[in-house]
Amino acid sequence: MARHERIFVCQSCGAVYGRWQGKCDACGGWNTVAEENAPRTAPVPGAASAGASQRSKGRPFQLEALQGATAEARRTISGIVEFDRVTGGGFVKGSVLLVGGDPGIGKSTLLIQASAALASSGGRVVYISGEEATAQVRLRAERLGLAGSSVALAAETNVEDIIATLSRGAAPHLVIIDSIQTMWSSLVESAPGTVTQVRACAQSLIRYAKSSGATVILVGHVTKDGAIAGPRVVEHMVDAVISFEGDGAHHFRILRASKNRFGPTDEIGVFEMTGAGLAEVANPSALFIAGRDQHAAGAAIFAGMEGTRPLLMEMQALVAPSALSTPRRAVVGWDSNRLAMVLAVLDAHGRLKFGGYDIYLNVAGGLRIVEPAADLAAAAILISSLTGTMIANDTVICGEVALSGAIRPVGQMAARLKEASKLGFARAIVPAAGLEGAPAGLDLESVSTIGDLVARLARS
Ligand code: TYD
Ligand code: MG
Repeated sequence: MARHERIFVCQSCGAVYGRWQGKCDACGGWNTVAEENAPRTAPVPGAASAGASQRSKGRPFQLEALQGATAEARRTISGIVEFDRVTGGGFVKGSVLLVGGDPGIGKSTLLIQASAALASSGGRVVYISGEEATAQVRLRAERLGLAGSSVALAAETNVEDIIATLSRGAAPHLVIIDSIQTMWSSLVESAPGTVTQVRACAQSLIRYAKSSGATVILVGHVTKDGAIAGPRVVEHMVDAVISFEGDGAHHFRILRASKNRFGPTDEIGVFEMTGAGLAEVANPSALFIAGRDQHAAGAAIFAGMEGTRPLLMEMQALVAPSALSTPRRAVVGWDSNRLAMVLAVLDAHGRLKFGGYDIYLNVAGGLRIVEPAADLAAAAILISSLTGTMIANDTVICGEVALSGAIRPVGQMAARLKEASKLGFARAIVPAAGLEGAPAGLDLESVSTIGDLVARLARS
């Protein structure tokens, strides 16, 4: 019975099929389904009832009450403040983090810097590179000025060998596996990078982390073509999923947690890629609004929030007469459905017609806004670009637009306005309610309907 079951697995989401198909029904990906050997230990679907009679009797275990004394999770501070902010105050002992991102975004750079920072404060750190030779990693560390740090280094890809090595002596505080897609386990007969291999390796490493108390960071490349399994196939197994984002045209990178069993998921860490590695950006608002054109219509500063941290961002709109029968609506960094909604409200309650115009909306610096609080700023830049009236460059805007045309209050207004005041802004266009705790130095201009906003911009 050594014959192996053949299965077809989507390399993007891990869905399993009995035969090959061009499109994955589960995630909608095209050409992502590849043939693999079924893992020997996995139960064969449909065989459960047949095997039930042979199943050995289970061992009963003790159930516990939900209430009970549990010590606060012990954490290891990495020493990189922006990283620690995203993890929720350091790496929890015995936890496994997945750091995902596009190839070349700077994952290895970030993690070698974090390793060195932890090692310099006395932590035992092991960095396993499956992609680069030790000489390459060493060269990079030298370029980053970290060559002197006591990080233990290896270029290995076999998970059993890695765990055997790590299990000798005292457990390290932090183990970096760069990347999970290059790892392979000899217990599984699929090629490295396939869903079965990636899952099996992640499982072994998670078991190692739980039993030894070491924090394990798995690096995962986000893949678009599905040729190798994406980090999504292990997302459900790990304790935290952190993505490292940014685009090639900009120097800054954002670290964001999308799942975290030990901390918040709405914090971001901001870094700038420099010639000497990643530098932490302590005041991101200043970075994101720097270098803006202060004498152009169609731009405004939105006072946003990322988690507990206020962040000022520049939003830009271009409204231009269209030659097309269906004018273009292009949105980068914001939700196109919200653009449609704001345009409908401006039309219905502000009597502004955008029908014959192409509209482009952009959030400067490659940022992505998800808050409804940006509605009012979006409405303001659309009006500004359509009518050619400038929004004064000492003004920030924040508020949510309702379908009735009313401007609704937003949360954490005091923090947003304090950030604006700190960065030298003098005025804020805001909803009429929810302004408790606003700093004294800021001139608040409240608008209660979209009609108020139109009138307010027409005046200036
Ligand atoms: P890397 O950390 O290798 O990316 P990943 O591990 O996510 O694939 O980063 C590679 C990019 O970073 C590369 O294009 C060069 C750039 N880089 C710098 O700009 N400055 C530096 O000091 C370093 C080390 C890399
Ligand atoms: Mg790398």
